[in-house]
Amino acid sequence: MKFFISTPLGFENTALLEMKEVWPYLLGKDAKTHALSFPEVEVMMGGLEFETELFQALQLNFFLKTANRLLLRMTSFKTKDLPKFYQKFKSLPWKEYLQHGNVEWEVAAQKSRLNNEKRLQESAEKALSEIFAGQTGETPCASIYIRMDDDLCTISLDATGEHLHKRGWSILKGEAPMRETIAAELLREMIGEATPGEVAGATLCDPMMGSGTFLTEARALWSGQFQRDFAFKQWKKCPKLFLSPSFAFNYEIPARAPFKALLGMDINPEMPNITEKNFAEVESQLKAYQRDQFKPQDHKFWAQNSLEAPQGTDTLSPIGKAPQALWMVVNPPYGERLPVAGKGGLKALAAELCRLYKPQKLGILYPEKDKVDPAPNGYKIEKEIKINNGGIRCLFTILTPL
Ligand SMILES: C[S@@+](CC[C@H](N)C(=O)[O-])C[C@H]1O[C@@H](n2cnc3c(N)ncnc32)[C@H](O)[C@@H]1O
Repeated sequence: MKFFISTPLGFENTALLEMKEVWPYLLGKDAKTHALSFPEVEVMMGGLEFETELFQALQLNFFLKTANRLLLRMTSFKTKDLPKFYQKFKSLPWKEYLQHGNVEWEVAAQKSRLNNEKRLQESAEKALSEIFAGQTGETPCASIYIRMDDDLCTISLDATGEHLHKRGWSILKGEAPMRETIAAELLREMIGEATPGEVAGATLCDPMMGSGTFLTEARALWSGQFQRDFAFKQWKKCPKLFLSPSFAFNYEIPARAPFKALLGMDINPEMPNITEKNFAEVESQLKAYQRDQFKPQDHKFWAQNSLEAPQGTDTLSPIGKAPQALWMVVNPPYGERLPVAGKGGLKALAAELCRLYKPQKLGILYPEKDKVDPAPNGYKIEKEIKINNGGIRCLFTILTPL
């Protein structure tokens, strides 16, 4: 069967890396680690296309942190003609998947003779209501995606449901929270070529943590999410194993805390509590399936203006002296609210953080127009990545000591 994993633009290769990393640990139908070989994957703009077994593909929902969703490709064919579209749509095995004929539609058409999205949807609705002879549930049981591009029609069934950035553990949000998919991508960019040992020796600190998205993502970067719902669980064809509350115990993935410790500060005194609650939820979900292997993550979140280090030598006050292998990652507010010491806006922020904490790595996300240039004293720009953060063109710059 054919699948498509959609990703934000530019995240395709990280999603592929995640898929490769988790593949050896997926389960087979006997609930034991499988032996299916890794599929050939076509990396396209905005996603990955590949063929594999349904049973394995569905499990990617539990593990991919940089993907948006998983679609099952039902078919694709060339057409310029509505009756042909209707016939093809009607011939698909909807009864094997759907409980009834009430579904949600995502229809998009461009550069095609059949470019009227409303008519395409009406035609597909008619076919579905005939297949199900008017059986409709009260709420939609699935989402069907119809794409018409250059007269090529692709019909897919969504296996994910709510967007994958909804992890099911970051419950409380501060102001301007970032998407979990972006946080995961940026953390992966920071990790880059570093060995697992180097990462495990590093302490990660977010000096403007808000509700702690970077920190919760860092905690769970290599762990599964099993407690949120996924659309495929409503399919008639959903493998029974995934409906059992304890199926996640079968995974033999080593429980891994990527970083040695996680630290977070925020000038807003409400944020440490919020982050602590989100973090506790991640910890409790990981513990529920890692069981004996689970080790609590060393962490500390506190209220502080991170640009005003307390007097004396101890810059990370509750911790004492800043750890040697300190990595910092920051998503500052992009506006007037940021009380940067001295003039220079966000440019001064990178320099201040380097001066105060001397991190081994600093990853900073900010609008492209405020580019960090030149690098702060004693640092060089190791990487610069373009990111669309909620419609704002941003850069993620990684600085390392010279
Ligand atoms: C864009 S939000 C961070 C959002 C966070 N990444 C999340 O996903 O929830 C920026 C945060 O920086 C905090 N902040 C602003 N100036 C600060 C400073 N000087 N020291 C510490 N925190 C600061 C704000 O209170 C806000 O929570």
